[in-house]
Amino acid sequence: MKLEKSEILKALESITVAGEGKNMVESGAVKNVITFGDEVVVDLVLTTPALHIRKRAEVDVMKVIHEKVYEKAKIKVNVKVEAPAAQPETNEIKGKPIPGITNIIAVASGKGGVGKSTVTSNLAVTLAKMGFKVGLLDADIYGPSTPIMFDVERERPLSVKEDGKSKMKPIENYGVKILSIGFFTQPNQAVVWRGPMAAKALNQMIFDGAWGELDFMLIDLPPGTGDIHLSIMQSLPITGAVVVSTPQNVALADARKGVAMFQQESINVPVLGIIENMAYFTPEELPNNKYYIFGKEGAKYLAEDLDVPFLGEIPLVQSIREAGDAGRPAALQTATPIEKAFEEITKNVVQEVVNRNDSLPPTEAIKITTMAGCSVVKK
Ligand SMILES: Nc1ncnc2c1ncn2[C@@H]1O[C@H](COP(=O)(O)OP(=O)(O)OP(=O)(O)O)[C@@H](O)[C@H]1O
Ligand SMILES: [Mg+2]
Repeated sequence: MKLEKSEILKALESITVAGEGKNMVESGAVKNVITFGDEVVVDLVLTTPALHIRKRAEVDVMKVIHEKVYEKAKIKVNVKVEAPAAQPETNEIKGKPIPGITNIIAVASGKGGVGKSTVTSNLAVTLAKMGFKVGLLDADIYGPSTPIMFDVERERPLSVKEDGKSKMKPIENYGVKILSIGFFTQPNQAVVWRGPMAAKALNQMIFDGAWGELDFMLIDLPPGTGDIHLSIMQSLPITGAVVVSTPQNVALADARKGVAMFQQESINVPVLGIIENMAYFTPEELPNNKYYIFGKEGAKYLAEDLDVPFLGEIPLVQSIREAGDAGRPAALQTATPIEKAFEEITKNVVQEVVNRNDSLPPTEAIKITTMAGCSVVKK
């Protein structure tokens, strides 16, 4: 059963919240509706703090969806109370510098090889399956892996004219638009670039890419907290960052640095949360056996400690590695535990983006001046 957002909204139009006048869709009380299969999440923002009215609204939402749309729908209702004056005018990101791109999510890690690119590619295909328009910018200038993970390494972006300007048309596969420096180099060629050149190449992919309308642009960052990261944060108002870590101590220490980089006062990019990759090993033939080879729940504890959301865990399974190498992200295999795990995490990411856009102003791109090898960050 696939629930449609439009049907849910139509059903919600039959509810009037006490004190709000118009129906809850018209009055703007329904901030967001996300559907996924037979599940639906409804975010409400009400102006009344009265508990019984909030409860009533919650019950009414469940009732009308069950009665008018699907009786077995799994429904989650989030109710927030906001004084009208404190409400943001819209739910959208304001001041976006790339026309048409709504949310930009950077995926970072600190330590290399923990599965950023794997997680990013699976998040991207899952978002696309959910019906979002998705772009993926492979910002790993030195070790681009996205073209392989999407089985498009032999493709070359075409040049298209847009408003009289020549632009690069991203390569599309599995519903995701991709640009990567890997499209412009030979497979065996090492990219040896100084920082500013790498930054220039990245900026071209961002601003001279014919991305069209996107709900989400995911950026697969290289490991660490270096030049490229600063350059990206200088060029773009990142909506939020997702940090990937394994449960291992050395990875956690670097993830902590990754989070700290985004949270630095001068940078101030909201951290949407932490994903634990390779949380445990599961042999395909013994799916109930879990071996915590990198330690148990380390990333979860790190998220608690840093007071950032924990977005979920992904096991270490052979099929994820094979899918990456074969160029077809594992989350595309339907009705598997891996697909479920990525669906869960993707929903959490979307939810955190919604929360972030509701509660914070848009991120500003930061100004960086480089002086003799050290970067000075200015707001
Ligand atoms: N959950 C997983 N189960 C099995 N293999 C995985 C999993 N996550 C990642 N891998 C494999 O681990 C290797 C490293 O993953 P990936 O390239 O995504 O890491 P990365 O953090 O992007 O690395 P880099 O820092 O070099 O960019 C790849 O071979 C990938 O297929
Ligand atoms: Mg990578």
